[in-house]
Amino acid sequence: MSDLISKRTNFHILMFPWFAVGHLTPFLHLSNKLVEKGCTISFLLPRKAIKLLEHFNFYPDRITFHPVKVPHVEGLPLGTETASDIPINLTHFLCVAMDRTRDQVEKIIRDQKPDFVMYDMACWIPEVAKPLGIKTIKYSVVSAAAIAIVLVPARNVVKGKPISEAELSLPPTGYPSASVVLRGHEARSLLFVSKPFGEGVTFYERSCIGMNGCDAIAIRTCHEIEGKLCDYIGSQYGKPVFLTGPVLPESAKVPLEDRWAQWLDGFEAGSVVFCSFGSQRVLEKEQLHELVLGFESTGLPFLVALKPPVGSSTIEEALPDGFEERVKGRGVVWGGWVQQLEILNHPSIGCFVNTCGFGSMWESLMSDCRIVLVPHLGDQILNTRLMAEELKVAVEVERDEKGWFTKENLSNAIKSAMDEESEVGSMIKKNHTEWRNILGSKGFMSSCIDKFFQNMQQLVDH
Ligand SMILES: *[C@@H]1O[C@H](CO)[C@@H](O)[C@H](O)[C@H]1NC(C)=O
Ligand SMILES: *[C@@H]1O[C@H](CO)[C@@H](O)[C@H](O)[C@H]1NC(C)=O
Ligand SMILES: *[C@@H]1O[C@H](CO)[C@@H](O)[C@H](O)[C@H]1NC(C)=O
Repeated sequence: MSDLISKRTNFHILMFPWFAVGHLTPFLHLSNKLVEKGCTISFLLPRKAIKLLEHFNFYPDRITFHPVKVPHVEGLPLGTETASDIPINLTHFLCVAMDRTRDQVEKIIRDQKPDFVMYDMACWIPEVAKPLGIKTIKYSVVSAAAIAIVLVPARNVVKGKPISEAELSLPPTGYPSASVVLRGHEARSLLFVSKPFGEGVTFYERSCIGMNGCDAIAIRTCHEIEGKLCDYIGSQYGKPVFLTGPVLPESAKVPLEDRWAQWLDGFEAGSVVFCSFGSQRVLEKEQLHELVLGFESTGLPFLVALKPPVGSSTIEEALPDGFEERVKGRGVVWGGWVQQLEILNHPSIGCFVNTCGFGSMWESLMSDCRIVLVPHLGDQILNTRLMAEELKVAVEVERDEKGWFTKENLSNAIKSAMDEESEVGSMIKKNHTEWRNILGSKGFMSSCIDKFFQNMQQLVDH
């Protein structure tokens, strides 16, 4: 069998990820890995994003950035190039703009004649590349869980008819997991799939077109964690599914800022609760109050990094009365950016509270902390079920139908995760340690990439 596999390694791969940092970055991490296999990469991206990504390009002589000009589209502020420039409800217009780069992209593909094109949202790539004999791979940088529950043909979302919450709350036919599911009103956060995303096409349709057109579906996950869900996606689309593993970059060995290192050094090992909700999430003020009061009532030291809530320009002005005085010396709420990975790796941190975006999911799994999850958006909810219900490595905070939680809900979740004597606390610790040993074992990540690259070699032989 191995005789049939191409021995060629010097593929030229063109990358065209969606114009959002959360997509551009994992495509670039994968590019670095493929260069190490012998490939050269042409990486298409909005001009402004080059500055943000440059420092993650470890092989500037082998990975060439090609800026694409993002055209102005009515509905978008002038100069918009990436999703971070706009509120989430305008991303449809950014997608219209991306589709209008098709002529530029087509010209680059014709000029460069790569062996492969990898894309995610640009569902028209196969139409451009296939007639030129170029292989196409649709690379999903969200969990298989988030795709399998809604973006599959079995879902059968009818064109022009909005999908209902009731329909979405049931898994599609043949769905292989009883634990990675939505509960009750959570389906609401996925209703966007039947809304327009680009001109004349819904998010669901775009995803299906992109999956149906490609030669292979790639997903940024591993068989050990999401094997069943990946197999389901493959059988739904009748396509091979290639897994890259999480493709985490080697930690850049940046020291933790003194301010935090010194503060954290003052606490016992494994005692501090760290909470980071990422740069996207902006809470309502009432919810921010429940959150910080929840930390206060755990009695544990804590470090919380959060954006100021709706209607406030700083986090300090939004804190509850007397809060800062009461937690002085043991609790900090910080309104700016922090080095999440470096903080997580500080020995004093014992618990990580986060919204379970896919990046944080992997960082939690690889860390030595107890994991407490407060998901908000659709894919975060499914990632959370994977962690809390399927792998049983995390505690999920109880939330009401609106997705809100009380201070008791948060502090109960933290206390049960941190209490090693409790049934839940000891179970998640044991399970998490087992998973960390597997995922963190020497060679695990590189064997995922080896397998992925072999799959690519097999594809060119067909
Ligand atoms: C997007 O949301 C903002 C409020 O966050 C609102 O003012 C605006 O009208 C919305 N735009 C569209 C196109 O829905
Ligand atoms: C988690 O731990 C429990 C209790 O020790 C065990 O029964 C279960 O099989 C573990 N689950 C996983 C997914 O490792
Ligand atoms: C969540 O909070 C509500 C209101 O305080 C409470 O009734 C419920 O028992 C809490 N659940 C958990 C698991 O903390």
